[in-house]
Amino acid sequence: MAVPLSSGTGRRRVPSQNGRLSVEVVIVPDAKAGGALIAGAMADLLRRTPDALLGVATGSTPLPVYEALAARVRSGSVDTSRARIAQLDEYVGLPADHPESYRSVLRREVLEPLGIGMDAFMGPDGAAEDIPAACEAYDRALAEAGGVDLQLLGIGTDGHIGFNEPCSSLVSRTRIKTLTEQTRVDNARFFGGDVGQVPHHVITQGIGTILEARHLVLLATGEGKADAVAATVEGPVAAVCPASALQLHPHATVVVDEAAASKLKFADYFRHTYASKPDWQGI
Ligand code: GLP
Repeated sequence: MAVPLSSGTGRRRVPSQNGRLSVEVVIVPDAKAGGALIAGAMADLLRRTPDALLGVATGSTPLPVYEALAARVRSGSVDTSRARIAQLDEYVGLPADHPESYRSVLRREVLEPLGIGMDAFMGPDGAAEDIPAACEAYDRALAEAGGVDLQLLGIGTDGHIGFNEPCSSLVSRTRIKTLTEQTRVDNARFFGGDVGQVPHHVITQGIGTILEARHLVLLATGEGKADAVAATVEGPVAAVCPASALQLHPHATVVVDEAAASKLKFADYFRHTYASKPDWQGI
């Protein structure tokens, strides 16, 4: 069941603009540097807003972020005692305690290392009997919790964010989706390499839902993501590349390593812009 969380802060659900209205692309040397940069932004957010609602993603890409943030927690430089965590998407049909349900993955990779309890966690119920009702309940719960402050995203090789596969509506809400075969093949590595074990259906925050987070941070690493990153940042806003919806958000940051940046035509411009950025601005 979706866990309703009350923010109690009455904060307005207005995305921060941080002085710019374009997708910011930050090219970092490697995944570790990307993880450190984003963990730093999360740490700053938690200093400003100790009960911030952090939207987290699964997959291999965000792991360096969670590792870097956990290191800060261990060293005492970040206090997560009031932090709250929101899930992005979930498989349909896996019991919540299945080791590869995204709830289990997030408990292992995010909540436990950050010392955050399940009472501060919210996610959709992929094992619900009434999936449309579970989707609606989760979408509502996110709003009632005050909205996501910072949503971390990975990207699929086909440009999906969450599990919004190509041709998802750019104004979609949390709902059930059918995975493409490509995504099932990509994710088979988490199911012992057996694509037959990867569920066909998922619940995902919709693109419209994701766009309501105050700050979107997408991390992409490796050459396999280079085409999707180029389409996201330099292509048209189009449902065929769901991540291109980031261009509609007033505060979206795309952090890429050199390999994932390798197909960007404006890479030099992005490097120059970031290098000349005032320190106070952060990402
Ligand atoms: C899954 C998740 C996405 C994630 C994507 C990429 O499909 N639903 O949120 O971004 O995988 O995963 P990876 O980072 O392992 O390439």
